[in-house]
Amino acid sequence: MSPATKTKFKNPRARYNFQGRTCSISGVGSYLPSKVLTNGDLEKMVDTSDEWITSRTGIKERRLAAQDEFTSDLATQAALKAMTNAGITAEQIDLIIIATITPDMPFPSTACLVQRKIGAVRAAAFDIEAACSGFIFGLEIAQQFIMSRTYDTVLVVGAEKLSSIVDWTDRNTCVLFGDGAGAAVLQNRPEAHGLLTAVMGSDGQKSDLLFMPGGGSRCPATAESVSSRMHYLRMEGKETFKNAVQAMQTAAEEALHRCEIDISRIKCIIPHQANRRIIDAVCERLGAKPEQLFVNLHKYGNTSAASVAIALDEAVQSGQVQRGDLILMIVFGAGLTWGAAVIEW
Ligand code: ACO
Repeated sequence: MSPATKTKFKNPRARYNFQGRTCSISGVGSYLPSKVLTNGDLEKMVDTSDEWITSRTGIKERRLAAQDEFTSDLATQAALKAMTNAGITAEQIDLIIIATITPDMPFPSTACLVQRKIGAVRAAAFDIEAACSGFIFGLEIAQQFIMSRTYDTVLVVGAEKLSSIVDWTDRNTCVLFGDGAGAAVLQNRPEAHGLLTAVMGSDGQKSDLLFMPGGGSRCPATAESVSSRMHYLRMEGKETFKNAVQAMQTAAEEALHRCEIDISRIKCIIPHQANRRIIDAVCERLGAKPEQLFVNLHKYGNTSAASVAIALDEAVQSGQVQRGDLILMIVFGAGLTWGAAVIEW
């Protein structure tokens, strides 16, 4: 029995085999806007302190997109870098998947805007919404198209301008989030194995832990919705924390179980960069060593769907991950949603 079945979160009963083609990540890229907002800057905006933010979260600073810089712009920059690193042209892309909770507009999709900006004239394009888990969900969707031989080249991007939905008067949430984007080009490359498995899970019973009440069909924008600050994200921090630890453990154990490997085989663990204490608790429960972890949240805070995509790019560019190494990515987000992926780099 998988150890994952002992915890309270359940994953779908997935059947996994490699009868289809394998799916490799042939290039990754990321983009962070240049404006830095430090904990010291936040001390001037709300009743908080660098000491509180650092000790409770591990975050020291985060990046903010410019006023005229939108999620599609961040995604485009990350995508262009991933395409260069993969050695592909825009015309080669068959499908663009953008994971985001901060699209430029409710419609059209941010993926369509990115398609236009990079000139991927042949590509189908759509957005997915799985909050901070979106990049792993996107990888899994892309993998299905590649394994089934439907498409040869899929671009997956996690991109967020969270600063546009953060309530900058709420110290409980505004210290946690930042903007950024990370991208990956997925292809079948016979010489590289790539994505070995991707786990996805959801629990809508807990959808009220982290949400944005305004702007959808339930609460369209009105003068009243704006004055009651309903167009900003809301979060039950403590409950979210507890659920994050359990769900990430469940997902990671399921992914390792499917690959029939032990955590010690993993060279680099890339967890969702939300809170250093969540990361350490998950790491301890999995029996992982601190040196296996890749952490960059002190620089960027929680960038939701972009978080693990940016971290993957930085782990690769810094040389912490070499071809052939095993990577374990673990995510958690609103929904609730969670996921994990094992990648042979
Ligand atoms: N500065 C100073 N004090 C603060 C701040 C702040 N920025 N924020 C909260 N406090 C206060 C609270 O008001 C509270 O005061 P009180 O005891 O007088 O009421 C006190 O600090 C303790 O607050 P807690 O909520 O108990 O603090 P906790 O240790 O739980 O840390 C935190 C809060 C950091 C939000 C933590 O719960 C957390 O990280 N939760 C998970 C968040 C997360 O990962 N969210 C993203 C999910 S992914 C997605 O989909 C976007």
